[in-house]
Amino acid sequence: MSTACTIPVIAIDGPSASGKGTVAALVARELGFHYLDSGAIYRVTAYAAMDKGVALDDEPALVALSRVLDLRFDGAEVYLDGQPVGDAIRTEAAGRAASQIAALPDLRAALLELQRAFRKAPGLVTDGRDMGSVVFPDARLKVFLTATAEERAKRRYKQLIEKGFDASLPALVQDLRERDARDANRSAAPLRLEAGAHLLETTDMTITHAVNQVIGWYREAGQG
Ligand code: CDP
Repeated sequence: MSTACTIPVIAIDGPSASGKGTVAALVARELGFHYLDSGAIYRVTAYAAMDKGVALDDEPALVALSRVLDLRFDGAEVYLDGQPVGDAIRTEAAGRAASQIAALPDLRAALLELQRAFRKAPGLVTDGRDMGSVVFPDARLKVFLTATAEERAKRRYKQLIEKGFDASLPALVQDLRERDARDANRSAAPLRLEAGAHLLETTDMTITHAVNQVIGWYREAGQG
């Protein structure tokens, strides 16, 4: 077994705005592990494409672009070509564009190595759609974190308003349903509950409860 494979990974997958990023980041902090927000990679790639005039359906050009992405994470901030883009990639338009390019299989394959490079000692907590199924199939713990579309829309609404963006709750519910359908029905790495993954339904659950549940499962697995 290579060294990388002995480094534990906790993979938290789930639909848009389920709160998996918040939970994953807190679990990572609690365990002293690294954290990878894989959605940010898709968002930055889409943002860079729009910035450079690359069409979102031009797969070869997107693959070429992904190979030269100058991307750096520093805490909660994300840098593209040395410029902070954390807020710019969090808009709903950037999320939609990310979801569109995320359906392209060659682009997903091109981004695998970049994501796997985040697996460093003492461990990694990561969130996305295919962390447990494709990127880290040997993850020690796999969690599928979800909530109803209405609850997720409320969470996203709060997040956008707090960042000073305009938002409409009905439009968000509609957008989430469309994104869910696209993520679940695409042929490349569709979002689904993996065999062996723990289902965490968080509609009526506090963040602390969700974090403690994930850490509890990790410890139960005998790795804590
Ligand atoms: O906020 P939301 O959960 O929608 O987005 P995100 O996690 O930042 O990811 C943005 C988009 O990238 C999602 O809508 C997915 O289509 C895509 N994505 C993916 O396909 N695979 C991942 N591992 C992460 C994100």
